[in-house]
Amino acid sequence: MAQDSLPRDTGPRSAGPGIDAVSTPARRTVLRGGLATLLAPVAGCATPGTPRLAAAGLRIGFEGLEVSTADGLRVAHGYTATPFLAWGEPVGIAGGPMPAFRDDAGNSAAEQALQLGMHHDGMHYFPLEPGSADASRRGLLVMNHEYVDDGLLHTTGTADWSAEKVAKSQASHGISVVEVALVDGRWQPVRPSPRARRITATTPFELRGPAAGHRLMRTAADPTGTRVLGTFANCAAGMTPWGTYLSGEENFPDYFTTADTPTRHEQRWGLRKTGWYNWAAHDPRFDTVRHPNEPHRFGWVVEVDPYDPASTPVKRTALGRAVHEGAWVAVTKDGRAVVYSGEDAVFEYIYRFVSRDRIRPGGFKANRELLDHGTLYVARFDADGRGRWLPLRHGEGPLTAANGFADQGEVLIKARQASDLLGATPMDRPEWLAIDPTSRWVHCTLTNNTQRGPGARADVDAANPRANNTMGQIIRWREDGDFDGDGFEWNHLVLAGDPANTRPEARGNTVGDPFGSPDTIAFGPGGLLWIGSDVSTSALNSGDNARLGNNQLLACDPATRTTRRFLVGPVNCELTGVCFTPDGRTMFVNIQHPGEMPGGRNDPANPRRWSNWPDFCPTGRPRSATVVVRKLDGGMIGS
Ligand code: FEO
Ligand code: CA
Ligand code: CA
Repeated sequence: MAQDSLPRDTGPRSAGPGIDAVSTPARRTVLRGGLATLLAPVAGCATPGTPRLAAAGLRIGFEGLEVSTADGLRVAHGYTATPFLAWGEPVGIAGGPMPAFRDDAGNSAAEQALQLGMHHDGMHYFPLEPGSADASRRGLLVMNHEYVDDGLLHTTGTADWSAEKVAKSQASHGISVVEVALVDGRWQPVRPSPRARRITATTPFELRGPAAGHRLMRTAADPTGTRVLGTFANCAAGMTPWGTYLSGEENFPDYFTTADTPTRHEQRWGLRKTGWYNWAAHDPRFDTVRHPNEPHRFGWVVEVDPYDPASTPVKRTALGRAVHEGAWVAVTKDGRAVVYSGEDAVFEYIYRFVSRDRIRPGGFKANRELLDHGTLYVARFDADGRGRWLPLRHGEGPLTAANGFADQGEVLIKARQASDLLGATPMDRPEWLAIDPTSRWVHCTLTNNTQRGPGARADVDAANPRANNTMGQIIRWREDGDFDGDGFEWNHLVLAGDPANTRPEARGNTVGDPFGSPDTIAFGPGGLLWIGSDVSTSALNSGDNARLGNNQLLACDPATRTTRRFLVGPVNCELTGVCFTPDGRTMFVNIQHPGEMPGGRNDPANPRRWSNWPDFCPTGRPRSATVVVRKLDGGMIGS
C-alpha cells in the first residue's frame, strides 16, 4: 500500500526525503538533498538517563519520517546515520593479525574469531575515562552477536557441513569489545587496541551463584560444574552502575540436539531432536543424549568487565535460568542492585533479582560477588492494576523436594517450572526493559504472541489483553516504595498497532506514528523513550503490518505517549541495541539481519536477493552493522 495512505495525527513532518545513509566502502555517507556532513565536536558531560539530562526535559524535536520499504537507511531530517563495524571487520586485538572481511564469506573460523561476529544486538558505550572531558569522544562499544545465518556466514552455506563450519559459527557468536573514538567529527574504530576483545561460544566462563557446582551443572568436561565454554544466543544488553556489561543468553535451546523424544524437562525448555544450528554434528557437547547437563549451563545472564580484556566473564546463576532477553539494573535507595529481566518466549515470565549487598565503589573487582547473593522473584500481574513479586525461594510454598526442587540451585536451573507452580503471569514474549530514571516506572516490551487466546496455554488477561496478538504492547510498573517493594502498580504505556487495521485487536492505541512488535527500548537524552520494532521478516509489510514499512526506530515522549518515526532500516532488518554517549550527542544503534530470508536461511548462491546493505558490493552480501547517528548541528539526539 502506498506510504501516503497511512493515517496521520502527528505533528509536522519532513516535506522531503530523510537523509539516506547509503554506504560504500569508499564513501560511507551520502546525504540526499545536497546537505553537507558537518559534525561538530562535543564535550562530555552527564550520562543519558541521569537526572541532569532528564531534567533538561527535551521533547521530540524532529519531524517524523514516512514509512519506507527501501533497501537503505533513512533518518530524520537534520541527522546523519553512518554505518561502521560491520560483521567481519577486525575488532583490532593488539599484537596479532587483523584479518579483513572477505566479500565471499571466505574467512576461516580462526579469522572470524578476530572479527566482529554476525547479527549485532544489545550494545552499550563505555567511556574510556568516565567523567572526563573525553568521555563522549573515546570509549568502548560492547555488543553481542545474537545468532548467525549459515546461508550467509559460509561461502557455500550449510552444504558439506563440517567441523570448520561449526567452529566458524561458534566464532561468529558471543560478544565484541571495540575501542572507538570521535576524530574530526567522525566516529572510527581504534585498531589495534589493547582493550579490543572477542568472546565467543568457546571462551571460558566462570559459573557463580547458588547453582554453580550443582549436580545438574556438572559435565564430563567440567566435573566441578563451575567452568563452561562460551556464551551464545546473547540478545539484549544492560550496563551496570559499576561499569560492566550484562547480556542475556536467549534462544539457547536452538543449539542442542536431543534424543528422538526429548525428556519432559527438555520439552519444557524447548529442546528438540534437531536443533536449528546442528553444532552437535561436529561438537558432541551439544548432544544432550551424551551430555544431558550441558543445556543447564546456558540461559543465564552473563557479566563482562569490558575494561579488562584478560578478565574471565561470569554467568550469574542467582538471576535464574531463562530464555533471557537481557538484564537491566536499578538501584535501591540504600545502594543495592535490582536486576530486571524477561524471557522472550510465548507465555513466559518477567523476573526481578534484589541483591543482598550494596554496590561498592571500585568497578567489577569490588562487585565481583554482588550478583551472587540475593533473592529472585517472578511477576504476577493482577486484573486490578496491582501486581506482586513472588519469591523463588527453595522450601517456600510449592518449591519443595516433593515437587522436584532438591535445593535452591535446582529452583534456579528450573526457574520456568518454579514460576509455573508459583502462579506467575505468562506474558506475551517479554523483550527489552527500560527504567525511567525520573519517574521510576519500569517499562517492558511484550513484542507479540499470536498464540494467545481461548484454548491456548493462556487466554487473554489484563496485562496481555489481546488474542492473536500480532502487534505487541509496552507494559510498565512502579514498585511500592523502593525498587525492592513486594508489590507494584502497573498499566500499559501503549498497545502497539496500526489504527487503519480492520481487525480490532491489531489497531492498538498508538499516538503518532504507528508501529508493531516493539522490542528494543531505551531511555535517552531528555527522558525520551526510544522504541525499536522487530516485526518478523515473514510478517513485514503484510497482514496487520501491511502499512508499517521496514522495521524502524521511534522516539516516544512518555508524557504524551506520542511516537515519532526517527530511523527506518533496510529490507528485512531489525533495529536494536540503542545506546548513547554520555553527552547525549551520539546515538549508536545496530542494524541486525538485513536481508534476512523470510522463515529460513539465505541462499548462498544468491545472498543479495533481499538486501545488499550496507556495502552494496556487487560481489558481497548483507551484513549486520552498527550505525552512528549524529545531529547536523551537534545537538542532543532527539532534539
Ligand atoms: Fe533476541 Fe528476543 O530478541
Ligand atoms: Ca530482541
Ligand atoms: Ca524480537
